[in-house]
Amino acid sequence: MANKLISPSILSADFAKLGEEIESVTKAGADWLHVDVMDGHFVNNITIGIPVVKSLKKFCKIPLDVHLMIEKPEKYIEQFIKAGADYLTIHVEATQDPAAVLRKIRELGAKPGITLRPGTALDKIIPFLALVDLVLVMTVEPGFGGQSFMADQVSKVEALKQMRSEKKWQGLIEVDGGVNEQTVSQLKSADVLVAGSFVFSGPHGKNYAAAIKALRA
Ligand code: DX5
Ligand code: ZN
Repeated sequence: MANKLISPSILSADFAKLGEEIESVTKAGADWLHVDVMDGHFVNNITIGIPVVKSLKKFCKIPLDVHLMIEKPEKYIEQFIKAGADYLTIHVEATQDPAAVLRKIRELGAKPGITLRPGTALDKIIPFLALVDLVLVMTVEPGFGGQSFMADQVSKVEALKQMRSEKKWQGLIEVDGGVNEQTVSQLKSADVLVAGSFVFSGPHGKNYAAAIKALRA
């Protein structure tokens, strides 16, 4: 893929001005909007849920890339899709039957994605590659923005790209966690970059266009 897609994570945006933040980041050239949903069980943090996704959908012109960090995602996927999730990504560790959940996401009209914690072996998601449009490689422990990039996860990105070139699956490779203008040099094989703190509170300040440009450079 020639040009990488950039998916800013609203976790680091100003929640009191979410509408303005989204407008700014869209104007700045964001391709997707990354929405981190946390339930206080699967990860040790609580963020936002279905009503926020629904409100975002009303005026957000770019696709909503929803990352579910919740236990038993099967209980909520229908509501997230009705609320407007375009891509809906679940954790392989969060459910007994990832294949059933991924099939259901597609049946309900969204694009299914699978992801894994840094400590989970890539092998765990291989059985599900044929069912997804997106694989998200976590380069931090899920739960919080602003953590340091885990370079030891890059081999997963490379392995996924290799498997894709061997026609073992097709879909996008996304990376989430600690992505900034330095670490991006290690992510040549990724198609979609999630960035929260780098875009919304990084060295480029409120110049979101400069931050996004730096990630694409
Ligand atoms: C972490 C989230 C990330 C987070 C990334 O659990 O999945 O999307 O917002 O934040 P940064 O880019 O600051 O590492
Ligand atoms: Zn995320």
